Amino acid sequence: MDPIELDPHTPEFLERRLDRYAELRSECPVVWNTAHGGFWLVTGYDEVLTVARDNDTFMHQYRPGAPDGVDYEGIIGYPRHPDVPAQGVSEVDGPDHQDLRRALNPVFSPAAVEASRQEMVAVATWFLDQIVASGSGDLVLDFASPVPAILTLRMMGLPVDNWRYYAEFFHATAAHPQTSPEFMAVMEHAPAMTGELFAHAQHRRAHPGDDLTSLLVGLERASGPLSDEEVTGVMWNLVAGGVDTTTSLVASALHHLGTHPGDRQRLVDDPARLPRAIDEFLRYFTPNESLTRTSSRDVDLGGCPVRKGDRLWISWIAANRDPAAFDRPDDVVLDRDPNPHLAFGLGGHRCIGMHLARVEAEVMLGEVLRRIPDYEIDPDGFAPYSPNMMMNGVLRMPATFTPGPRTGPAARPF
Ligand code: HEM
Repeated sequence: MDPIELDPHTPEFLERRLDRYAELRSECPVVWNTAHGGFWLVTGYDEVLTVARDNDTFMHQYRPGAPDGVDYEGIIGYPRHPDVPAQGVSEVDGPDHQDLRRALNPVFSPAAVEASRQEMVAVATWFLDQIVASGSGDLVLDFASPVPAILTLRMMGLPVDNWRYYAEFFHATAAHPQTSPEFMAVMEHAPAMTGELFAHAQHRRAHPGDDLTSLLVGLERASGPLSDEEVTGVMWNLVAGGVDTTTSLVASALHHLGTHPGDRQRLVDDPARLPRAIDEFLRYFTPNESLTRTSSRDVDLGGCPVRKGDRLWISWIAANRDPAAFDRPDDVVLDRDPNPHLAFGLGGHRCIGMHLARVEAEVMLGEVLRRIPDYEIDPDGFAPYSPNMMMNGVLRMPATFTPGPRTGPAARPF
């Protein structure tokens, strides 16, 4: 197929991006786009899979000398903001990345996550308790946002009292286009936040505890220990991953269930169906929609000649809606099985927090469906993220429901 010229940051494209992906995917799942200095746009399931699996060829790290304006975290045309540190796990390749993952993976293993289920229930119960008696609340601001934020900050050993500061920052950076006044305003906090993480890393070096930050400052790599700057980059990556995406998943799922009574009733009647339903919400909504890579060599991808230094934009959400991989890809099929979605990526960089996110979502959705199963969303107050290429989520979702009793302790359990 001939190259296309498509500026993916325009509202016209963003509003109907899923339709446009479908057209491109059926015509040419790998296509050269001349916009923003040129990049390959990859939309087919098999092709996205090929890129994600081959981390040696399709690098995460931005290498000086590659065309400017691209790195892992920046979306092509919107490079990573200068006040945001390089993502300490996502933007690392090769042996350093493998050493990091070897050290961190046990903290995020299914068994480790399962061991923290009771803590998740306690935090979710506390936040539902704050609204349950009144019969109304915002299912994002009062619930889906604070619960993962508290759990993430506790995991890092950071103070939980300013959870709002972290939650608002990460949701706002994901919710608004990078040229918007809202994004610019919130970015003014980035240096202070980096400073806070840096100071915490230094504190833990002097006074180790049993949190993840302490593990990072003591971490052994073949190439030597992590510097405080590197620890800060890993912390940022973990806090951003832990705070925003799980909120988006739970909020999108609650919106779907609030607007599809049949699906909601099926899960109320049989909560054992939740894990499979969560994977379907992950596929359908794909909270992290797309990421970028840089090619380290000349290679054929789907019949297209990718050259060393070429940039690629891989769309997880386009892959997750590929009819060649999924029947009825544009429907939520609660019991879909198998469901080999790519919402957590794949290969050596596959999301480190995937087990954590799944169990957090199961606990949070389970508590809502058990305690306020008749919640009604106020359609006028519902505010999804502005359409953008990276993240898919919800900022606000006011709702009403039949009031119920508090069930947790009177004192805050965290
Ligand atoms: C619904 C929730 C989540 C979604 C949809 C999600 C999605 C993703 C995706 C698509 C990637 C990129 C994989 C790749 O490049 O191949 C990723 C990586 C990552 N995620 Fe998540 N994530 C979620 C939750 C979490 C949580 C709870 C944490 C941590 C507390 C986390 C931390 C990370 C980190 C550190 C990476 C980088 C991994 C690496 O490069 O080795 N994520 N995530």
